[in-house]
Amino acid sequence: MTEAPSSQGRVLAVVLAAGEGTRMKSSLPKVLHKVAGRSMLGHVLASVRDSVASAAAVVIGPNHEDVAREAARGFPGATIHVQADRKGTAHAVLQAETVLDEGLAAVVVLFADTPLVRPETVAKLRDAVAAGAGVAVLAFRAADPAGYGRVLTGPDGVRAIREHKDATADERRVTLCNAGLMALDGRHALAILKGIGSANAQGEFYLTDAVEAARARGLSVTVVEAPEAEVMGINDRVQLAQAEALMQARLRETAMREGATFIDPASVFLSHDTVLGRDVVVEPQVFFGPGVTVGDRAVIHAHCHIEGAAIAADAHVGPFARLRPGATLGEGVKVGNFVEIKNAAVAAGAKISHLSYIGDAEVGREANIGAGTITCNYDGYFKHLTVIGANAFIGSNSSLVAPVTIAAGAYVGSGSVVTRDVPAGSLALARAPQVVKEGWAERFNSMMKARKAARAKL
Ligand code: UD1
Ligand code: MG
Repeated sequence: MTEAPSSQGRVLAVVLAAGEGTRMKSSLPKVLHKVAGRSMLGHVLASVRDSVASAAAVVIGPNHEDVAREAARGFPGATIHVQADRKGTAHAVLQAETVLDEGLAAVVVLFADTPLVRPETVAKLRDAVAAGAGVAVLAFRAADPAGYGRVLTGPDGVRAIREHKDATADERRVTLCNAGLMALDGRHALAILKGIGSANAQGEFYLTDAVEAARARGLSVTVVEAPEAEVMGINDRVQLAQAEALMQARLRETAMREGATFIDPASVFLSHDTVLGRDVVVEPQVFFGPGVTVGDRAVIHAHCHIEGAAIAADAHVGPFARLRPGATLGEGVKVGNFVEIKNAAVAAGAKISHLSYIGDAEVGREANIGAGTITCNYDGYFKHLTVIGANAFIGSNSSLVAPVTIAAGAYVGSGSVVTRDVPAGSLALARAPQVVKEGWAERFNSMMKARKAARAKL
């Protein structure tokens, strides 16, 4: 036996992302479908990034530039390797041969369509190799093992993994199944992979045969077990929805354990990166898209849709509010029902309580935006900025035609269409002046009543 490598050594993650995913019935490559607002590939890369990997190699199918771009986003510096023909999982790993150098402490192999794997589990596989195993395979107890490779164990560890199609009736009774993830001793990985042949039912180069190839070289093979829910593979949209449900349950639990209250957790949808502060209260039926942070004690009332927004402490949002990307709410801001905010910074203490659209805007501290206020930010060609100063008061049902500035402390009369800047401390009235005709209604009503009576006689 050679000496065990240090757990501190360089670890390469090889992520297999080739394949069309035909059962998804989609124009999008399978691994780009999202779970909790992030692609499956993004999840897998985050798991390796957050645990052990110092480098990543992503194996993609031909003409999948979009997968390559997502890989670069998920793991900056990841190398991309195209597998032109699908000749099996070991063949796929070998596409990354140029980066499988012998100076690596470990190589971990993951499937991009297995998005629920936790970083701690990837670390356990690496640790097994660091502790001396030539290969460590990830396994689970399958409720229904049909279709999975079976992990066959003996007194000296794992003997082999037998693909379902190649298994005997006795072997098919084994419920310990191969999850697909594997760690290999970096010093031997290339030799092990090159020792794999394709004499099996599918004529493919199976990564699972790394077990026997390692044993043939006198290396030991161990197994790490994970819950089935963590290693589920996604092949169709039904499984995608199941993975989403499992991920949501995980995210909700983490948020609640970190101090957020959910009145009805099952009706709140979170993204992989949603950050909720202490004593945040989230009422039922709220959707958080990617990129949302919520400060301490903020309340998100029922039926809100929020994405790309930063909400500071003690703010109140909703019910029925929509915060779109670039919305930032300062401390204690109040956003009420049927309000939409996009790309707008709302400073502390400002109130937008009812029925407004605030887009491409700055709203100063303690400003009060009346019901029905609209920022007219788009002229059909360009977007323009609306600036509302601190303590300004915008009367109900006003249209602010951008670019326009309403300076600090100014007043805008209700129903105004504001097209020019309003100086600080002034009043802007931009509506037809009111006309009052005394006695008009009484005269009108007697005339019309008389007319109607005359017609009824005819
Ligand atoms: C694989 C395992 C099986 C395990 C199961 C768990 C092998 C040989 N079998 O079977 O033991 O129980 O996963 O879900 O490893 N891929 C490529 N190039 C290829 C072939 C596959 O990139 O040439 C990628 C696929 O995109 C996928 C992954 O490798 O992400 C697994 O391939 P798949 O065909 O789904 O293998 P299974 O039959 O599910
Ligand atoms: Mg599969």
